[in-house]
Amino acid sequence: MKRIPIETAAPYEVVAGENILKDAGAYMRAAGVAARKAFIVSDDVVLPLYGGAVRASLLAAGFQPYTLAFEHGEEHKNLATIEKILSTLCAAEITRSDVLVALGGGVVGDVCGFAAAIYLRGVKFVQIPTTLLAAVDSSVGGKTGVDLPAGKNLAGAFHQPALVLCDTAVLSALPEKLFSEGMAEAIKYGVIGNAAFFAALEEGRADTETVVETSVRAKAAVVKKDEFDTGERMLLNFGHTFGHAIEKLSGFTVSHGEGVAAGMLFACRYAEKIGFSEEKDITVRLKNALARYRLPAECPFTGAELFPAMAHDKKRAGDKINLILPKRIGRAEICPTPMETVKEVLSEL
Ligand SMILES: NC(=O)c1ccc[n+]([C@@H]2O[C@H](COP(=O)([O-])OP(=O)(O)OC[C@H]3O[C@@H](n4cnc5c(N)ncnc54)[C@H](O)[C@@H]3O)[C@@H](O)[C@H]2O)c1
Ligand SMILES: [Zn+2]
Repeated sequence: MKRIPIETAAPYEVVAGENILKDAGAYMRAAGVAARKAFIVSDDVVLPLYGGAVRASLLAAGFQPYTLAFEHGEEHKNLATIEKILSTLCAAEITRSDVLVALGGGVVGDVCGFAAAIYLRGVKFVQIPTTLLAAVDSSVGGKTGVDLPAGKNLAGAFHQPALVLCDTAVLSALPEKLFSEGMAEAIKYGVIGNAAFFAALEEGRADTETVVETSVRAKAAVVKKDEFDTGERMLLNFGHTFGHAIEKLSGFTVSHGEGVAAGMLFACRYAEKIGFSEEKDITVRLKNALARYRLPAECPFTGAELFPAMAHDKKRAGDKINLILPKRIGRAEICPTPMETVKEVLSEL
């Protein structure tokens, strides 16, 4: 079992280990969660799988458990779901000294976290990520929120969890496609800051616990320096500016992980094209690593097609956009680039 400290203004721990889900309540008590009621928020896929075990563990630890599951999928990550959750919290007379428990993937974590951030101006919540993507990325760092009709993640708040519990047995049992999507984010951490980790992934040498631990430590290091995403945390956006555009152009039939995979390839090709990357074969190595986890090694769109979809990116500042480009495997940099330049280079990719 691994414990990884997250040093934000209100610090907490990520605990990662096999079969820890059934002891969730005890871990919460050990982390200082003194609540009487614990309100599980999940979705209709995850609750039947793991809701029973978590509920039993909460009861055993002296919590009074409640559950609410909304319909799974990104299309339910919206304000209507938030309203339903807030009303149910009121009906259950949840108070500021109680706790919410996000049991699910990134959608559940973002939605439950946002509900926890705004209900009674903020209540405690615990993350129990059940997808690899949620374990290595979304459950850590305190970004919560929902989509608006105008775009993804446009309403939200920073609200750090009190504890994150990653059961690696749950993650190892994931359907292959879901597991691969999380691996895209793990590969991202390798490219931007950890060449040895990248090599382990490239060669298929890392087990689930190592993938989770190394990824969470990478994210924790960045979040510690830039909790509110005004500088270095932008590095985590590697592959995402292009990836979001790919997701959007596909009408969201390309998943987030697949979009990030294709987006990282675009960023590598972009860096090679403008002579930014110092390492030869960076694109080839990334392609091979992605292929190992059956992630797309080609992008379904041309650079010229991507450009218009990038114009509304949140990482845009005036007429510039912050591209995250790799120098070599293990190092990426934030490159403020005029939109005109991006357009020009992309038209040749
Ligand atoms: N807050 C952040 O910092 C941050 C970072 C990255 C991504 N995100 C968000 O995360 C979301 C994507 O997360 P995701 O990929 O986990 O999506 P998700 O939560 O939609 O999960 C994908 C699917 O897998 C199902 N599922 C979850 N756990 C399962 C399990 N153990 N076994 C079988 N099925 C399971 C879910 O019901 C869902 O249908 C996006 O909304 C994205 O914006 C947030
Ligand atoms: Zn991502």
